[in-house]
Amino acid sequence: MTSSGDTFLPRVELTDDTSLLANEAAAGGATATANANIALVKYWGKADEDLIIPRTSSLSLTLEGLETTSSVCFREDSTQDRLFIDDVERHGKALNRVSALLDLVREQAGIQAGAVVMSRNTVPYEAGLASSSSAFAALALAASHAAGLRLNDTELSRLARRGSGSASRSVFGGLAVWHAGHDDPSSYAEAVDCPLDLAIVVVLISGKPKKISSREAMRRSVETSDLYDAWVRANPRDLERALRAVKAGDIKALGEVAQGNFLGMHATMMTAKPPVMYWMPGSVEALQAVDELRQDGLPAWATMDAGPNVKVLTTAADARRVEDELRLRLPRCAIHTHLAGPGVRLL
Ligand code: PMV
Repeated sequence: MTSSGDTFLPRVELTDDTSLLANEAAAGGATATANANIALVKYWGKADEDLIIPRTSSLSLTLEGLETTSSVCFREDSTQDRLFIDDVERHGKALNRVSALLDLVREQAGIQAGAVVMSRNTVPYEAGLASSSSAFAALALAASHAAGLRLNDTELSRLARRGSGSASRSVFGGLAVWHAGHDDPSSYAEAVDCPLDLAIVVVLISGKPKKISSREAMRRSVETSDLYDAWVRANPRDLERALRAVKAGDIKALGEVAQGNFLGMHATMMTAKPPVMYWMPGSVEALQAVDELRQDGLPAWATMDAGPNVKVLTTAADARRVEDELRLRLPRCAIHTHLAGPGVRLL
């Protein structure tokens, strides 16, 4: 729902009538908030496109400050779903994705009613960090609750996964591992204990919507990149090293795995046919700045997702210095620190 593709969809400004509906969703149903997460060991490629079963297990950090709050209200008088994101009614792809998740909820709850969904994103700066992880985790909890279902964390993670793979991890605060599994019941995330106080410093290179969705980019990597199989083979080793580093409280080992892992993922995109290149000149500048910081002795390792923005893994204690040093080197970029954030919750 915060996915950048939304920007291309026809927009319908709120009229008095739709505004009433949106308020009804907030008042009569259930409301949940979820935080976005950033993967340190990535999910890239699906084994099952319908069920969203990934080819690899992944590890992520849920972040404070990047939130989606969604209200869902089922209405017996209608079978139509309506979706409002940041006070604008959405149709097309965004609505279809939301309706597909609502269908799963309706099926489990044995209801037919249409829903009004009102979703708000509280990001402290312009788009570009839009993530479907917070959106679908919030939707899964709000919709299931509004329909009378009381799902446990595993069930909720599986439901959120059907909206967007990464959303399965936003059910949990802090670090979460998403076990790839092989079918619907076996593919879910769970929390990972972490003795490290981690932080992510986000360097915003561009807030513009991406031209190629992560869905399309990962499909193309799976189907056409010669490097894709090597990327999948490297996953168990990366995940095992990352989890061992977390357990040992070793940020250096964790950072090195995270950096290598994201570079491997982008290598599969760059070698897809036709290639997917999310990097911009500013991304390379930021990656070089992160290298310099590390050479100067600061704990800082980069990761990137399906876009040009660079996220820097560090510790909460070092985040301020990392942020200051990056600002000196990248004066044109918006730079913000995000500490570990909470899991999805009802309001
Ligand atoms: O959940 P999706 O479809 O938005 O895919 C997210 C993929 C990456 O962000 C690039 C990696 C990840 O594990 O979150």
